[in-house]
Amino acid sequence: MSSFSGIINSYYSIDDIPDNDRIIIINNKQKRNLFKRIILILAISVLCIFMLMIITTTVTITFKKKSINFNYQNSSLTENKIILNISKPLEQNNIASNKTKTILETSTPSKHNNSLNRQLSTNPHYNQNGNIVAGVFSTPNDELNKLQSPASVYLDRERNIYVADTANHRIRKYFPGKSAEGLTLIDKTWNINSPRCLYIDQESNHLFFLDRDNQENYRVQLLKLNSNKLKLTILIIGKQTRSYGMTLDQNLNIYISEFNYHRIVKWLSPNYDRYVIIGENNKKTLSFPRSIYIDEVTNNLYIADRNRIQRWSTNSNESEIVMQGGSLCPNGIEYDSHGNLYISQDKTIKLINNTTDLEGIDIIGIQDYPNMDANFETTANLYTPEGIYLDKTNGDFYVADSDFNRIIKFTIID
Ligand SMILES: *[C@@H]1O[C@H](CO)[C@@H](O)[C@H](O)[C@H]1NC(C)=O
Ligand SMILES: *[C@@H]1O[C@H](CO)[C@@H](O)[C@H](O)[C@H]1NC(C)=O
Ligand SMILES: *[C@@H]1O[C@H](CO)[C@@H](O)[C@H](O)[C@H]1NC(C)=O
Ligand SMILES: *[C@@H]1O[C@H](CO)[C@@H](O)[C@H](O)[C@H]1NC(C)=O
Ligand SMILES: *[C@@H]1O[C@H](CO)[C@@H](O)[C@H](O)[C@H]1NC(C)=O
Ligand SMILES: *[C@@H]1O[C@H](CO)[C@@H](O)[C@H](O)[C@H]1NC(C)=O
Ligand SMILES: *[C@@H]1O[C@H](CO)[C@@H](O)[C@H](O)[C@H]1NC(C)=O
Repeated sequence: MSSFSGIINSYYSIDDIPDNDRIIIINNKQKRNLFKRIILILAISVLCIFMLMIITTTVTITFKKKSINFNYQNSSLTENKIILNISKPLEQNNIASNKTKTILETSTPSKHNNSLNRQLSTNPHYNQNGNIVAGVFSTPNDELNKLQSPASVYLDRERNIYVADTANHRIRKYFPGKSAEGLTLIDKTWNINSPRCLYIDQESNHLFFLDRDNQENYRVQLLKLNSNKLKLTILIIGKQTRSYGMTLDQNLNIYISEFNYHRIVKWLSPNYDRYVIIGENNKKTLSFPRSIYIDEVTNNLYIADRNRIQRWSTNSNESEIVMQGGSLCPNGIEYDSHGNLYISQDKTIKLINNTTDLEGIDIIGIQDYPNMDANFETTANLYTPEGIYLDKTNGDFYVADSDFNRIIKFTIID
């Protein structure tokens, strides 16, 4: 209030008034002052109420946007907290309890092992015939040995293979060397719908994935792998976004592409209650973005939109086109420590490095053939490959061969 009374005084300086009139005028002035003060107080009150309304609305909107839902299926809230505490970001925010710190310090290193990465070839060549590691030849259906339009594949440290069996609305796990024997981790009875974009945090042993709820809202869910009985919805994004891409960085921030809004939204761990928008919200810089990928060494974000890949620095809004070509949007994206970019698009896996042109060269699935022709369903051909996974410990390449309904592994020759 002191600044306001200061203002009042400056409006009504007694020195401005001739001496003779001073007494009477002071009385009038006092009345006027009183009146002005009442008006002022009223004005301030109205202003305050107005501001309060704005704040309330903002908070409500923000809250609606975030829609965090900590409902665990078949578990208690206590377990929910444990899950969030074992993620790394708590340490980053300096709010880690000693218990959390202990878990962090004793946990095995993250999946990223630079020393092994260096053993990868700078110029890799792959066996053109792959091995089917999940799914089988023949018509897709929901039998246990089959897959339908798998969109994503991911490995854990033991090389168990996790598959988003997207059109069957389930996530399956396959054991190394035993392609036929998989098990269903989670399926329709858990209310999941078109899962895709698998990501495993190896340290906490959680699987993140993108799917949709009953109202067709896109959402991110978390599955505790060592129990497979704990599932947590950590983000509900809404149905308008049409989100096809989700990935995480090493601090477990979640990135989601919003196809309809031409942007990527980064949700900040550990609570995912704040977000940052990456890319401008217009079609100039990002145009219907789909798949996204984080290179964990540099923390660069790779974004597939239209028929190209852009590299975005997550610390600035600077972007660069690193791949451009073909008539379709790239699907899967991978990146190795030598700066080789791998993408799946149409019927091949392409490699782009600093000596190839922006279109890259086909390194897997090199034969072109007519669409929808099952005669070409060999282990050397791909049909709409989507998610890809490069095993950075040995160079093996896994492809979710979506329209041939299988996962194929290609081994490196040199
Ligand atoms: C989870 O709980 C529901 C209802 O409480 C039950 O029907 C379902 O079988 C449980 N699922 C698992 C995997 O335990
Ligand atoms: C998890 O972290 C929160 C915030 O630091 C803390 O209040 C809570 O006690 C922790 N829970 C467990 C089980 O460690
Ligand atoms: C956490 O660890 C620090 C340093 O080891 C110690 O000083 C502090 O008392 C511990 N806090 C709790 C709550 O145990
Ligand atoms: C990376 O892998 C190599 C070879 O297996 C191993 O010696 C090294 O300890 C690993 N480094 C980390 C940080 O795990
Ligand atoms: C880039 O890839 C092409 C095709 O595989 C290869 O011939 C070339 O040597 C690579 N360049 C580098 C620097 O690895
Ligand atoms: C990037 O762009 C977004 C949207 O235009 C803006 O909100 C954000 O502050 C920018 N970030 C940086 C680091 O410039
Ligand atoms: C391309 O990458 C290779 C391997 O990282 C590097 O040795 C070479 O200098 C690069 N060439 C150019 C033109 O950047």
